[in-house]
Amino acid sequence: MDMFVVQGGRPLRGRVAVSGAKNAALPIMAAALATDGPTTLHGVPDLVDVRTMAALLQTLGVAVERAEDGSLQLEVVDKRPAIAEYELVRRMRASVCVLGPLLGRRGRAAVSLPGGCNIGHRPIDLHLRGLEALGADIRIERGYVVARANRLKGASLYLGGACGSTVTGTCNVMAAAVFAKGTTTIEAAACEPEVEDLGRYLNAMGARISGLGTPTLRIDGVDRLEGTTHTVIPDRIEAATLMIAAAMTRGEVTLDNVRLDHMTAVVRKLEEIGVKLQPQPEGAVHIDGTGPLRPADCIALPYPAIPTDVQAQLTALLTQAEGISVVTDKVFPDRFMHVSEMARMGARVRREGQSAIIAGGEPLSGASVMASDLRASAALVLAALAARGESVVRRIYHLDRGYERFEERLRMLGADIRRVVDTPANVPASLHPLSATAPESEAA
Ligand code: EPU
Repeated sequence: MDMFVVQGGRPLRGRVAVSGAKNAALPIMAAALATDGPTTLHGVPDLVDVRTMAALLQTLGVAVERAEDGSLQLEVVDKRPAIAEYELVRRMRASVCVLGPLLGRRGRAAVSLPGGCNIGHRPIDLHLRGLEALGADIRIERGYVVARANRLKGASLYLGGACGSTVTGTCNVMAAAVFAKGTTTIEAAACEPEVEDLGRYLNAMGARISGLGTPTLRIDGVDRLEGTTHTVIPDRIEAATLMIAAAMTRGEVTLDNVRLDHMTAVVRKLEEIGVKLQPQPEGAVHIDGTGPLRPADCIALPYPAIPTDVQAQLTALLTQAEGISVVTDKVFPDRFMHVSEMARMGARVRREGQSAIIAGGEPLSGASVMASDLRASAALVLAALAARGESVVRRIYHLDRGYERFEERLRMLGADIRRVVDTPANVPASLHPLSATAPESEAA
């Protein structure tokens, strides 16, 4: 297992490009199951989750190849397999995105239930409710969702749940409904840009979906889809993470390949906190994080509000803003494993129900911390970049699932961050509590 060793306290400076969006790429790759023609995808990041989806699609009869120009080529070569095995599904919850396209195109699908998750309870009842409304027969058998339908039928259905709509659930139902006979209306559809991007991809293949980006989708069924070429949208979560990294280290960074229109709530919140953002030509944005940081209240909600996937990074940032901040997560109310790790770095932060209460303004001090999920890992790396002294961030395999070459790109911005194998010998001597070079000793 790898870990990062980070020497904190260096302001980030320079220019990097944001990758294509993981959470758009995964359902789009899965939807390649729905066409007999070839798909070419540009802007698919090279991530562990993307490789897991590629491996899963290969077991489902899709040839997947990364071309020399970096594009991903997908083509169905065998339409018979319809079982998404536990071994691959348990590694990545987004595997469930194969359910809708498989059912719609092949009339049957068996997809393993994914099991536990570090960010809280993640049921798929809304996915199943939506597919049942289209006429699918759905059973849970031996840990698998087994779905069958001769021909799905258009229907009016509602995808709202206790915590809002469902992103991958909307993807699943939309990708199945493109083949349903007649018209489907989905109310309380997720409006996230990643869902819209999947819809654009399906439409480019010949689907007839309108209302994309709104809570009401209308889908007129078609008999078949053609192959197409599509470019995945930039990753708004990675962009936000890098913006916050610039602000936390009091640096100045320019990011390329940013869709600011996909991240209005985050941009407004960062401006309220004191970060200056200046749009530049051709999708670039300049971030000036050198000014004073102010405390803020942030609430993560479904799009277009602040995304839950930026909640942990905002919590890290607000540890550096003098005063009391509150960060609430209404999408995944248990997604606060990072709070106790940040406290180990000296952050004055505690969890209160679905919120983190932060008394910010104290410098963080380097420590050995443990990542618990993808976005928590990113937040801990940001905290380590801002902290005095050295830190170790363990279990970064979580981070590798969603950020492409993250440490290399941070190094391009001047960060002192190294990937090493997690062994006691690689833990810096300064992290020993009684070390003469430990940050506490420096301060004394
Ligand atoms: N929910 C239900 N029933 C369902 C589905 C969801 O109650 O059938 C609840 C969930 O428990 C949660 C809320 O609805 O409280 C929203 O969950 P959603 O289904 O929208 O999440 P998801 O589709 O499983 C995607 C992203 C997540 C991101 C969430 C919320 C992908 C592959 N994953 O998950 O991304 O946090 O939407 O925006 O698109 C990440 O990238 O780190 C990540 C976890």
